[in-house]
Amino acid sequence: MASCTSSQVARFFLAVSCLLCLAAVSNVKALSTFVTVSQDGGPLALKVDKDGTYKVTIDGTTWLESHNTFFTIDGTMYSTMDGSLKVSTGPMMHSGVNPRLGSFEEIDIIWEAMDPKTTKIMTSFQVYSEVSAVVFTQNFTLGGLTGTSCGDKNGLSTGFPTFKVAETMKKDLGYLAYGELFLSLQSIGNWMLPVKVMGSGLYSAPLTLFNRTKHTMVLSPFKEFMVSSMVFDDASDAIMQGIMGMIAEIPKDFVHQTVVYFGRERSIKNSMYEWGHTLLKQYNTVRYKQKDVTLNYIGYWTDGGAFYYYNTELNKTYEQTLIDVKAEADRLFIPYKYYQLDSWWYFKGIAGGVKNWTAMPSVFPHGAGYLHKQLGHPFAAHNRYWASDTVYAKKNGGKWNFIVEKEKAIPQDTEFWDYLLSSSKKEWGLTLYEQDWLNDEFEGLHCTLENVTVARKWLMDMGQAAMVNDMTIQYCMPMARHLLQTVEIPHMNQARASGDYHPGNGQWNIGLSSIIYHALDIRPFKDNFRTNSADEHHPKYGSEPVPFLQTVIAIYSTAPVGPSDSIGFTNVTLLNRTMSSDGLLLQPSRPMMAVDGYMLNIAFPGENIGVTGLIWSSYSNVSGAIYGSILSIDTYATIKVYPNDVDLEMLQPSVAYLDQRSDDTIQMFDDTHPIILMPSSPDKFQLWQTAPTFMFRNQTWAILGEVEKLVPFSPKRFQSTEISDSDIILQLMAGPREQINIQVMTNSMLWMVTCHTDMAGPLEVHIMDKNSYKCQN
Ligand SMILES: *[C@@H]1O[C@H](CO)[C@@H](O)[C@H](O)[C@H]1NC(C)=O
Ligand SMILES: *[C@@H]1O[C@H](CO)[C@@H](O)[C@H](O)[C@H]1NC(C)=O
Ligand SMILES: *[C@@H]1O[C@H](CO)[C@@H](O)[C@H](O)[C@H]1NC(C)=O
Ligand SMILES: *[C@@H]1O[C@H](CO)[C@@H](O)[C@H](O)[C@H]1NC(C)=O
Ligand SMILES: *[C@@H]1O[C@H](CO)[C@@H](O)[C@H](O)[C@H]1NC(C)=O
Ligand SMILES: *[C@@H]1O[C@H](CO)[C@@H](O)[C@H](O)[C@H]1NC(C)=O
Ligand SMILES: *[C@@H]1O[C@H](CO)[C@@H](O)[C@H](O)[C@H]1NC(C)=O
Ligand SMILES: *[C@@H]1O[C@H](CO)[C@@H](O)[C@H](O)[C@H]1NC(C)=O
Ligand SMILES: *[C@@H]1O[C@H](CO)[C@@H](O)[C@H](O)[C@H]1NC(C)=O
Repeated sequence: MASCTSSQVARFFLAVSCLLCLAAVSNVKALSTFVTVSQDGGPLALKVDKDGTYKVTIDGTTWLESHNTFFTIDGTMYSTMDGSLKVSTGPMMHSGVNPRLGSFEEIDIIWEAMDPKTTKIMTSFQVYSEVSAVVFTQNFTLGGLTGTSCGDKNGLSTGFPTFKVAETMKKDLGYLAYGELFLSLQSIGNWMLPVKVMGSGLYSAPLTLFNRTKHTMVLSPFKEFMVSSMVFDDASDAIMQGIMGMIAEIPKDFVHQTVVYFGRERSIKNSMYEWGHTLLKQYNTVRYKQKDVTLNYIGYWTDGGAFYYYNTELNKTYEQTLIDVKAEADRLFIPYKYYQLDSWWYFKGIAGGVKNWTAMPSVFPHGAGYLHKQLGHPFAAHNRYWASDTVYAKKNGGKWNFIVEKEKAIPQDTEFWDYLLSSSKKEWGLTLYEQDWLNDEFEGLHCTLENVTVARKWLMDMGQAAMVNDMTIQYCMPMARHLLQTVEIPHMNQARASGDYHPGNGQWNIGLSSIIYHALDIRPFKDNFRTNSADEHHPKYGSEPVPFLQTVIAIYSTAPVGPSDSIGFTNVTLLNRTMSSDGLLLQPSRPMMAVDGYMLNIAFPGENIGVTGLIWSSYSNVSGAIYGSILSIDTYATIKVYPNDVDLEMLQPSVAYLDQRSDDTIQMFDDTHPIILMPSSPDKFQLWQTAPTFMFRNQTWAILGEVEKLVPFSPKRFQSTEISDSDIILQLMAGPREQINIQVMTNSMLWMVTCHTDMAGPLEVHIMDKNSYKCQN
């Protein structure tokens, strides 16, 4: 590894450090030494040597150094490490503009491999100014490659960029890595650790590095997500990004990209959010959420863990069972606005794959259309991998293009998806298409692992059809690549963030997966849950020990809230805490996530930084005021936390109180008044709420909100707050025949504003003084 000494730096002082200077040298073709490109005014810089090695620096300190650039050509790997890949031309510099992300400085290198054809391949680096990113490109503009498979699906056929953490930085960098299905492997550590656990190969995921002051860098694919992998090589301690190992051929003009993003804020989570936002911006994607009934209203679920998962009422069909669920809901005023059908409803074929995605007469004797009319609400419906005997494939006499292999098949046909989704919507009210078994469809075929276009086309066609038909998609069993691919798929707006629910298992623990889901603006779904701990007599499942925690996690996830109890067992009192009278979910502004301090504490052990134990937080932001929520689930000792410890950027001093406390205890909460969290566990968790204080009529006020709801100041309920000289005005959305109780604090007195509604719709509340208020429809 060529690492420049300071004397070399002085001798070859060609380094340019601002955009204006760069513009002046942009005509320079090949630089004979090395070049440094810095972000305009930002901390991020890149240094490229004439031998093609490179470094990423932050404020002049090297965080990452290059490792080994390689390409597999006709079965042989050519690499810089063994000298079989060399710089042919470059580094060359020029400026450019990306219409989405703004101006950049680019450095290009043309490599030459020592193969019989002396193959040439271009790579480039783009250092952006407006966004805090460096993009690394493998550009096959000079020609495609054949024989690129390295024979290992968890390996890489090409490697660029590849990195090692600079030796001097190892002890200063913590990491947050993900892996496995649902990103259920979550690993936090220090880069000094001799063994680091993280997803690698097919199950690789974005990697986050952070230092003690929460300055944060994220490494991830930036393009061609379905065929991009990261390989972490324990032996060399190197992180390598490239095209996945079994790809057989790379077509001419193929472009593969990786991004290194450095957060502008001193915050792990906010930096990750900025990274995800940059990906979405690059693809001009704004996720479609507003009108999705499943994200906004309560629904009834029948998937794994649910009472009616491959299980009906005794001697009854699924059709009759769901009609009975609906009758019970009407009786108890549970306003389910959709029903979820799991894999029990359609025809299976070879190897359990889906043959014909329509209702089996044995489950719905009168058809799904009839049931839709009986229930009066739309369906969310499950689908899995396609069987090789699927009726839709041309090969089997169907109308559409599928690649059919031995057991599984995969559609490669935009029209197919349009047919499937539009006919399902029209005939039986499909509103959410749930694509499950994403990993099996991807890993269970050769074409998805060997061909660079097949997997992306499968997901893009599905997403396009959802958009055209005004529907949404939920992903289940996603690998990180599926989630990343959806930065091009606006109607995929939610995905399962942990394994299958079974009463009593720990899959509610989504505080770390929610961070990366939220960064990509995907709602992290915890799956269905039971609201009751009584024995519901299911042949397969036991009873749920912590229904209250399940409900708290569900509403704070901002994803669907899907109760799944047996008829007669739903705890409506508990469900009523999540919604308004018409089933509108009263969610916070962002998903509840593990606090940064939790990660700091694990990454820098023994240093007494961060917080010990599992603590999550979230907030509702209404008219710029922050109403925080803090959940402590697994803390062993008594812990003091201040707003900064729990990632609550409060502009005003606040008050804090415990959910469901038996008295009127309320306390100050600011940089000098901490909350004391008592030891907690899943069945003895603590949920704290905070509300900003303000001066009105010479008194200290705080509007705590609907303390009987789990999220007392949800922006779904409270649209705005305004304080004038004479009154406080709250704009609300109310359900029909609803009583809304808003708790208010004046000085240290607590009292209630109560409004009654007849019809659903906006409500304006004017508060003049203690116990002097009016509610207007
Ligand atoms: C790939 O290289 C070609 C030729 O230099 C260039 O026109 C194109 O913009 C490059 N693509 C990317 C994504 O950099
Ligand atoms: C973390 O990195 C930033 C950016 O280089 C630096 O300013 C800060 O001092 C670092 N923090 C520590 C504790 O080293
Ligand atoms: C269900 O069917 C079985 C067999 O036909 C019958 O013995 C049983 O009484 C039925 N149970 C109910 C609740 O109808
Ligand atoms: C799929 O099954 C339905 C019955 O649910 C049937 O009407 C339809 O013809 C089948 N589709 C094909 C292509 O065989
Ligand atoms: C990849 O698959 C597509 C769709 O079947 C096909 O058109 C293309 O030729 C394949 N590419 C290679 C390199 O085999
Ligand atoms: C229903 O939930 C409420 C709130 O958590 C709880 O107080 C009550 O005991 C539960 N009821 C039953 C029957 O479990
Ligand atoms: C739940 O809320 C609905 C609508 O506000 C109400 O009619 C019902 O009585 C409540 N149920 C319980 C058990 O509190
Ligand atoms: C809260 O919302 C306001 C806009 O109303 C926005 O400017 C501010 O950044 C938000 N704050 C947080 C912490 O989300
Ligand atoms: C607030 O206090 C000031 C000074 O004590 C007084 O002049 C003013 O009238 C008071 N305002 C109200 C609304 O009570």
